[in-house]
Amino acid sequence: MSRTYLVTGAASGIGKATTDLLRSQGHTVIGADLKNSDISADLSSAEGRVELVTQARELTGGRLDGVVACAGIAQFDPLTIKVNHFGAVATLQGLRPLLAAGTDPRALAVGSIDSLHPTDSAIVHAALAGDEEAAVAASQTAVDGGEGHLVYSSSKAAISRWVRRSAITEDWAGTGIPLNAVGPGVIITPMTQPLLDDPEMRGVVEQSVPMPLHGHARPEQIAPLIAWLTSPENTHVTGQVIFVDGGADAVLRGDRTW
Ligand code: NAI
Repeated sequence: MSRTYLVTGAASGIGKATTDLLRSQGHTVIGADLKNSDISADLSSAEGRVELVTQARELTGGRLDGVVACAGIAQFDPLTIKVNHFGAVATLQGLRPLLAAGTDPRALAVGSIDSLHPTDSAIVHAALAGDEEAAVAASQTAVDGGEGHLVYSSSKAAISRWVRRSAITEDWAGTGIPLNAVGPGVIITPMTQPLLDDPEMRGVVEQSVPMPLHGHARPEQIAPLIAWLTSPENTHVTGQVIFVDGGADAVLRGDRTW
């Protein structure tokens, strides 16, 4: 049966591949992005987050069957915590009432293998407390201290933990909405291409995210997992962060987790 999805970050990379796959399966997908999409909204800002929900209501008549919060950036800048955590939370929370009116509703955030790398506890703590101002200030402190890379890993650790905490609450499990995250390894998209093109940076990436199975992936290889997790077939997987990473999690964490 044809479903209606909303995908953020739909203009590029993993969001675009997910949109293309769902449309090829006969579903309606409303894309949202900074530009070149059905809804133009800047998810780093309060106004953009309101705009997303307002336009989604207008375009769908107030009901959605699936939401994929994929928009993200990897800059050594506080903007990264605003988009990757607060933008994703606003997407999922803001569109939850539309999902509650949908059929077999499902929701998903895009985390990252980088959430397993070192993080900044002040950023993660503020993000999970819902304090955007404090999270931005902590991110600026990290950047000023030459630790700007921690903003990205912290943003992805925070959204992953938010998904696990929220999935089991009345709002989500209680209203029959599975909520999960995928944690991609290194995926060849406009976000990573410049790094992979630089031999020195490529070495750093390969060392920090070892992918023994099939190496770096293409966005089209991530989309099917997102499509399944947000399909009616998924009735009992919730609160999970599923790494789709060519084995990187197994290399990095070994049998410390399962
Ligand atoms: P991409 O750069 O190809 O696509 C990201 C999209 O998000 C772009 O279309 C961009 O315009 C949009 N976006 C950025 N800021 C926005 C804002 N303020 N408001 C609305 N939209 C905004 O990147 P890619 O690789 O497809 O990334 C998608 C998601 O996957 C991101 O959350 C990223 O962190 C995550 N990810 C990517 C990995 C990779 O290796 N490419 C690895 C792990 C996670």
